Amino acid sequence: MLDRILIIDFGSQVTQLIARRVRENEVYSEIQPFNKVTFESLITFNPKGIILSGGPASVVEIQSPRVPQAVFSYGVPVLGICYGQQTMCIELGGKVEKSNNREFGRAFIDITDSCALFDGVWNKGDREQVWMSHGDRVTQLPPGFRVVGASEGSPFAAIVDDARRFYAVQFHLEVSHTPHGIQLLRNFICNIAGCQNNWTIHAFKKKAIDAIRHQVGSGRVICGLSGGVDSSVVAVLLHEAIGDQLTCVFVDHGFMRQNEANQVINTFRDCFNIKLIHRDASKFFFNKLIGKIDPEEKRKIIGTNFIKIFENEARKLGGADFLAQGTLYPDVIESISTTSGSSVTIKSHHNVGGLPDRMNIKLIEPLRELFKDEVRTLGHELGLPDKITKRHPFPGPGLAIRILGQEITKDRLNILKKADAIYLDEIQNANLYDEIWQAFVVLLPVHTVGVMGDSRSYDYACTLRAITSIDGMTADFYHFSNEFLTSVSNRIINEVNGINRVTYDITSKPPGTIEWE
Ligand code: XMP
Repeated sequence: MLDRILIIDFGSQVTQLIARRVRENEVYSEIQPFNKVTFESLITFNPKGIILSGGPASVVEIQSPRVPQAVFSYGVPVLGICYGQQTMCIELGGKVEKSNNREFGRAFIDITDSCALFDGVWNKGDREQVWMSHGDRVTQLPPGFRVVGASEGSPFAAIVDDARRFYAVQFHLEVSHTPHGIQLLRNFICNIAGCQNNWTIHAFKKKAIDAIRHQVGSGRVICGLSGGVDSSVVAVLLHEAIGDQLTCVFVDHGFMRQNEANQVINTFRDCFNIKLIHRDASKFFFNKLIGKIDPEEKRKIIGTNFIKIFENEARKLGGADFLAQGTLYPDVIESISTTSGSSVTIKSHHNVGGLPDRMNIKLIEPLRELFKDEVRTLGHELGLPDKITKRHPFPGPGLAIRILGQEITKDRLNILKKADAIYLDEIQNANLYDEIWQAFVVLLPVHTVGVMGDSRSYDYACTLRAITSIDGMTADFYHFSNEFLTSVSNRIINEVNGINRVTYDITSKPPGTIEWE
């Protein structure tokens, strides 16, 4: 049985980061919303330690989220972070008040005493950098606690109840701006909670293969393959578990990047020997999009027809018992989160979430416990090449949403494919691909005047986009050198007939989005 840490979520932006940090220590962790935790659920999950996350609420308010008492009676060590510290204090008989001395960002704490959380990291008398983000603060300790660290804004920045093994800090130890945070977390997980480091991707792979074999039995599985990281890893993992009981279906809508469709076929059919149906539906999709300009309409047409074609291929196979999907842990957390709710639709991202109901088919989701970086490591472990495991995200509707404000024609699609291929080629050659989260070219609905040789040109303008990001929710534009941008611009203008001007997009998200439409 794996040792496990439970993270109780109070809605912090960085709760997932806590879970990842725990797993980086090779200890399995899961996140559960605060209002789903009961004594029974703790017995079922069987954690060796519990971490209470931060959160946006104020414990001073009556309706605010509270840590369930079961957490304290369960008998394992508990670590409260920020809001987690405050709700812990209130529930155990301490006091929290609004403070005029709010701390946001870098702060320093004075280590006033030693404790197991600080062992080998911080010593009495040290002054240490931490990251704070709080308005309220603890003003009276609960019985049994002592203070071990204080900052200017928080006299009780780090507190301990040694007998019960309860630890609570006002600062965020999970973020990199608390330079020793990871070591403190390791002290909690390994020394205080006593977890063994037995969560590895190698161990996960073996367990997942056994679980797939058990779930599928002699049934047949169908898997939609796009060439992206998640579906590729699902396909190869399933193939290793059940061989030819798996059939992959690659619906090619024709809006992939240059040569990408061939790469998918070569990798999976030729290298991995996976049964793969390649349905070239490029003409079909092209015809469906004639005269369509509005991005949401393009997305809808591509999304619904994609599903229809996939269903059709599944039917032709004579039915399958399971549909494999690349659901990841962040999707699972989002669907059970207490903070997820209706929000404004900025773009309707195409997903195939409705498929299992429509097809009346059981789901198999072997990656639902993993974060994206763990999926990449698993892909590597399964022998997938770097060009797949490290591949940038690519939108479902593909290049169709990068031909802006105009009808998709063969000519425009070819121009965009060529420019995009040159840009990515230059990024690879400069060894920048892995530093960048996503990079692509957008074809603009603008013609500009230029001089090529001695004659006038009147061709398209395009823009280059490159961003860094953690999860695509926020993003910064990438700072290329002038030499790099000059070289890409020269190559695109010289090698792509139809483009005579290259621009670079320096918008972050927000206020921009990553794609242009
Ligand atoms: P935005 O443009 O919303 O993009 O900042 C965030 C991430 O989502 C991708 N994206 C899509 N993915 N279908 C998808 O599967 C879509 O319609 C779609 N639109 C945007 C985008 O490439 C980026 O990675």
